[in-house]
Amino acid sequence: MFNQFSLMFTNQSNKMKQTGAAKRSSYLYVLYVVIIVLLLFLLGCYLYNEKQRIGQFQGFKTDNLPEEHISPLQQSKEEKDKKIDLVALKVCDVFTGKWVLDEVTHPLYKEDECEFLSEWVACTRNGRPDSKYQKWRWQPRDCSLPRFDAKLLLEKLRGKKLMFIGDSIHYNQWQSMVCMVQSTISSGTKTLSHTAQMSIFNTEEYNTTISFYWAPFLVESNADPPDKRDGKREPIIMPRSISKHGKNWKDADFLVFNTYTWWTRHSKIKVLRQGSFTNETKESNEVGIYIMYEEVLRTWTNWLEQNIDPNRTSVFFSSMSPTHVRSSDWDVNGRATRKCEKETEPILNMSKPVDVGTNRRLREIAVNVTKSTTKVHVTFLNVTTMSEFRKDAHTSFYGSRSGSLLTPVQKLDPRTFADCYHWCLPGLPDTWNELLSLYIINKS
Ligand SMILES: *[C@@H]1O[C@H](CO)[C@@H](O)[C@H](O)[C@H]1NC(C)=O
Ligand SMILES: *[C@@H]1O[C@H](CO)[C@@H](O)[C@H](O)[C@H]1NC(C)=O
Ligand SMILES: *[C@@H]1O[C@H](CO)[C@@H](O)[C@H](O)[C@H]1NC(C)=O
Ligand SMILES: *[C@@H]1O[C@H](CO)[C@@H](O)[C@H](O)[C@H]1NC(C)=O
Ligand SMILES: *[C@@H]1O[C@H](CO)[C@@H](O)[C@H](O)[C@H]1NC(C)=O
Ligand SMILES: *[C@@H]1O[C@H](CO)[C@@H](O)[C@H](O)[C@H]1NC(C)=O
Repeated sequence: MFNQFSLMFTNQSNKMKQTGAAKRSSYLYVLYVVIIVLLLFLLGCYLYNEKQRIGQFQGFKTDNLPEEHISPLQQSKEEKDKKIDLVALKVCDVFTGKWVLDEVTHPLYKEDECEFLSEWVACTRNGRPDSKYQKWRWQPRDCSLPRFDAKLLLEKLRGKKLMFIGDSIHYNQWQSMVCMVQSTISSGTKTLSHTAQMSIFNTEEYNTTISFYWAPFLVESNADPPDKRDGKREPIIMPRSISKHGKNWKDADFLVFNTYTWWTRHSKIKVLRQGSFTNETKESNEVGIYIMYEEVLRTWTNWLEQNIDPNRTSVFFSSMSPTHVRSSDWDVNGRATRKCEKETEPILNMSKPVDVGTNRRLREIAVNVTKSTTKVHVTFLNVTTMSEFRKDAHTSFYGSRSGSLLTPVQKLDPRTFADCYHWCLPGLPDTWNELLSLYIINKS
């Protein structure tokens, strides 16, 4: 195109003074030049914006960036890997921001492209009619997130182990992580396996494992295998017993913990100080959840301090995953007749703080205890508030339990059957993982 044009120009410039046709083509030439200048200008604007975006995330004044940072296309892997991004993570609170609809970049994967997604949270496959809930991007107030890059994340996880430890919410997040990275791995080199206590995603190509370890209270409890499926039993915990679980965590490079939902059932929890669960009832006593939550988290941080090499392993704690079980929490006209089953949009009115009944005191205890470690730093993934806005993102009627979907009759009884605890995938947990990935990618 360009060559043709310049050829045309040399041929015609000779005759320019002689013919009217030549005059017209010289106007044409001017027009071409104007168009090209315009295009260059627009390209410049685009690159400048990209530069702003990258600069913002790195927490730099963009003017100080060397030229090679201007274009994302020119940005080499090494530059993206720069340790300096850690500074940005400290400067910019990525957990404070808002949800914006972004159909270009989200969802990060398609439900039916992830062979590892279990039916449990595959809402579209299970008949959920709306899909807007998949298309929200988290926009921090003071910086912008880089676009999620599965290859880069896997490169950082090469030869390493990432482990999620906790309850079914964390299983939800682990599934999300597997789906986020799996499409970039060649088929035949990735496997999923399950044991009673663990689910393990393994890729030969990167020699990486991304696993989930079931321990809803972190310490030993009667909710551990083989009893875990018996959800009706009242939980009993052994608040000082963690090493039986902990020995399975020691060789991970990234440990991501959570524990919350199981604590919120009652104001007291049964505690077993010694013996075993086979003989529990006589010897257990009930203690207030706040006292026990703190004791358990202290057992956990003590274990970390004694068993984790901070030079090798990064430790994270995910804050509470909220529920949406009373429509009156977000709908001023609503009496508390509904749960989350009719919700198709996040709470977008940010003018007053959201209160959907998250237990703030448990959160405060978790913040305090995770801050109190000395040798091992625990990064607090503060995802609660951003998730509180997401009344639209739960599985509600479209999760499957023990392999079966809700019947039409059950759907008439949302009080009993709508699941406003877990989250559809693709969906909200993908954002939690985008944020977690920032920390993993930026680790020195
Ligand atoms: C978590 O984020 C929320 C929302 O921005 C903020 O209000 C809260 O102070 C943060 N908590 C911690 C412990 O950082
Ligand atoms: C895979 O990673 C492990 C550490 O997780 C390492 O010990 C092992 O040598 C690696 N194997 C290969 C083939 O690179
Ligand atoms: C249960 O506990 C009691 C009292 O400590 C003990 O005598 C009994 O042998 C235990 N039973 C089992 C099955 O462990
Ligand atoms: C971690 O590395 C630093 C610097 O190399 C070293 O001084 C420190 O002793 C190491 N800590 C542990 C627990 O190995
Ligand atoms: C947002 O909430 C505030 C306080 O409840 C209310 O006064 C305002 O009208 C709401 N705005 C919109 C756009 O709904
Ligand atoms: C958390 O720590 C702060 C400051 O030390 C203290 O005032 C607060 O009472 C603690 N909160 C809980 C729930 O322990």
